[in-house]
Amino acid sequence: MNYLEIIGQKEENAKKIALKLNDLLADYHIFYMNLRGLHWNIKGPQFFALHNKFEELYDDAAEKIDEIAERILSIGQTPVHSLSEYTKKAGLKEALNVSEAKPAIEVVLSGFKYLLAKERELLALSDELNDEATNAMMSDYISEQEKLVWMFHSTTR
Ligand SMILES: [Fe+2]
Repeated sequence: MNYLEIIGQKEENAKKIALKLNDLLADYHIFYMNLRGLHWNIKGPQFFALHNKFEELYDDAAEKIDEIAERILSIGQTPVHSLSEYTKKAGLKEALNVSEAKPAIEVVLSGFKYLLAKERELLALSDELNDEATNAMMSDYISEQEKLVWMFHSTTR
């Protein structure tokens, strides 16, 4: 029996979703690396709080990277798995040499802004193509990240 027949998904729909999920996967790798850079390079009076917070965020990004890749496999497609492809595909910009709290938080907020927009595109596409699991995943990511945006944005007031 054909794999996609078992899960009740159409090949062309699975391919459309996987294309977008692979873009998101690439962006998450950039976000992950940006967060590691912030964790390492942050300086100043908020060092311990931010150093730890950035670690929590990159651990979470690493989990999402695995979930996104495994979602792609679950719809019978192949996750991109090379750094050179990620840098080609990603739209999110690399953040280098950021060591002060304010610009570091800006990197986090602009990263979330970018990822949230991509996740909303996937939310709409997965709804249109009846991919409930991708839809639920995006919905979870969006609600988690909107809460984090609120918290990080509050530190800048
Ligand atoms: Fe560390």
